[in-house]
Amino acid sequence: MDKLLIEGGHRLDGVLRISGAKNSALPILCATLLTDQPVTIANAPHLHDVTTMIELLGCLGAEVVIDEKMRVEVSARQLKSLRAPYDLVKTMRASFLVMGPLLARFGRAEVSLPGGCAIGSRPVDQHLKGFEALGARIEVLDGYVTANVDGQLKGADIVMDLVTVGGTENLMMAAVLAQGTTRIINAAKEPEIVDLGHMLNSMGAQVSGHGTSVVTIQGVEALHGCEYKVMPDRVETGTYLIAVAATGGHVRLERTAPETLGAVLAKLTLAGCELETGPDWIELSMHGRRPKAVDIETAVYPGFPTDMQAQFLAMNAIADGTSTISETIFENRFMHVQEIMRLGARIELHGSSVAIVHGVAKLHAAPVMATDLRASFSLVVAALVAEGRTLIDRIYHIDRGYETIEEKLQQLGASVQRVS
Ligand code: UD1
Repeated sequence: MDKLLIEGGHRLDGVLRISGAKNSALPILCATLLTDQPVTIANAPHLHDVTTMIELLGCLGAEVVIDEKMRVEVSARQLKSLRAPYDLVKTMRASFLVMGPLLARFGRAEVSLPGGCAIGSRPVDQHLKGFEALGARIEVLDGYVTANVDGQLKGADIVMDLVTVGGTENLMMAAVLAQGTTRIINAAKEPEIVDLGHMLNSMGAQVSGHGTSVVTIQGVEALHGCEYKVMPDRVETGTYLIAVAATGGHVRLERTAPETLGAVLAKLTLAGCELETGPDWIELSMHGRRPKAVDIETAVYPGFPTDMQAQFLAMNAIADGTSTISETIFENRFMHVQEIMRLGARIELHGSSVAIVHGVAKLHAAPVMATDLRASFSLVVAALVAEGRTLIDRIYHIDRGYETIEEKLQQLGASVQRVS
């Protein structure tokens, strides 16, 4: 099993190109199932989760070709199966997003109940409630959810009980081929929802209000092929900004989208970072300063993203002062705390949703273990500032979400090696 060996204490400095957004590429790949014509997706990141999704599309019978420029062409002219098997869904929760497109186009879908990161129970009740509102019959049997509709789905008003990114995406994809108008009320507003809405519209769908709390979808008879470029990854962007800030360094990130990172940039400014932004770049300078402790409370977009909580907590561990980190989106998303404490951090956990971080001047290397995707990068941040060589085990979690992590970190001057 691969591990990362990081020698801490190097101040990061350099220029990086940000990859396409994983959380946008995954629903967009699912949306290719909505048409019998070829769809080409550019800027999809080269990540395990994306490969898993491509494998799932292949297993359903779609033809997938990846060209020399890493563009993914999916042709779902005819499918051979409408069943997403446990083996693929268990490794990645986003596989559940094939349900909306399959149900919309073929009137039936069978998808294993999802797995993915072990962060809380993460049910799919809101997805299922929405499909039922659109006229589907749902059955859960032997770990599989089966959805059926006689004829076509019918547009409806769907009021979401809570804001869910995946739920909003699944229902948008189901509604584009439904008869009549659907309104998703209390929809998620994340930039990835906006990206999916744009992509669906490039296929001929009539989606409006994406990026607001009410998404309206006027169903159409059929969708056509298109070519679409995935947005830049805001989580990868924020993660590298935090990592560089923690080391007191400097970075210029290119091919990114600063407008999707408002809450994160505001917190980094409070931490003492000097930030400059342009249309598609962000520059951060810390001039060797130690970051200041900053309180964080995660929230749905445009609040501070839960996917950057762990990394920010790691920076706070060596910051000047004490901070409070509150996690409001997922239960059980503090598994990184015990591991960071192995490096000498002083953190108190209050229940499962609040951590008080007392910044210390130095961390010291120790063997640690990655527990979930974003938490694993928090260990990288901690290792980059710790004195000595830290070995991070189970980095398959990192490979699910961060493209060529060691190359990117080395480009910034970090001492990082992948070892097995
Ligand atoms: C997506 C992101 C993930 C991010 C999360 C929150 C992808 C592939 N993943 O995950 O990286 O951390 O948004 O920004 O885009 N919930 C229910 N019932 C449902 C659906 C969700 O109770 O039917 C709950 C979840 O348990 C969780 C909260 O709602 O507590 C938010 O989940 P959701 O927004 O759906 O996250 P994902 O789409 O799974």
